[in-house]
Amino acid sequence: MKFSHSLVEKNLPLMIVLIIVAISFGGLVEIVPLFFQKSTTEPVAGLKPHSALELTGRDIYVREGCYNCHSQMIRPFRAETERYGHYSVAGEFVYDRPFQWGSKRTGPDLARVGGRYSDEWHRVHLLNPRDLVPESNMPAYPWLAKTAADASSIRKKMEVLRTLGHPYSDEDIAAAPEALKDRTEMDALIAYLQGLGTALASVPNPANPPR
Ligand code: HEC
Repeated sequence: MKFSHSLVEKNLPLMIVLIIVAISFGGLVEIVPLFFQKSTTEPVAGLKPHSALELTGRDIYVREGCYNCHSQMIRPFRAETERYGHYSVAGEFVYDRPFQWGSKRTGPDLARVGGRYSDEWHRVHLLNPRDLVPESNMPAYPWLAKTAADASSIRKKMEVLRTLGHPYSDEDIAAAPEALKDRTEMDALIAYLQGLGTALASVPNPANPPR
């Protein structure tokens, strides 16, 4: 029998099935290779898993909802690379579970904020952003400076991440609670911020020469 297109046009269930088949095929062809491409699955050179202190800071970043106002994803557009630095690449996020790309920029992108300011700048800014940027609408987070970093579950967290492929050694895990001793949540959050995007800092970016 000669295949007639009018058959598909008149038979709705058949059309739905064929549309699903076509879209699934298109999706698989685009998505599946990403699971096997080195550029998306392997860490960029120099990328280390978060230290115990940074990992604790990262959890505070998530808890406080910083991602509601800040993205961590620099798009490959000139306006972005000139402002923030080299665009983000997939290999920078292999140790980010879940990633903090975000989708809202009330404040600036933070993907490369590491090393841009001093620890003291961050401290003052988190205590009261208006002290540094008078027109800022970012909330103040003064309690972070008064709350001790929680060391009770850090070993467990690192062990779980290790099962997912984060290269922590037994020594790293054993030493984790010690690294959080006498540190505040503020210290942890600042350590996390100072590490953001630094692994790619050595990659030259013609649109954004070193400042
Ligand atoms: C209501 C939205 C909002 C929330 C929530 C928020 N911020 Fe901000 N953030 C801003 C705005 C707006 C700016 C730009 C003005 C300024 O520097 O204060 C900013 C600036 C920053 C900067 C300086 C970035 C740069 O490149 O100059 C850092 C770092 C930062 N925020 C970290 C955080 C962290 C960490 C949290 C969570 C504890 C957080 N922000 C939560 C809105 C927000």
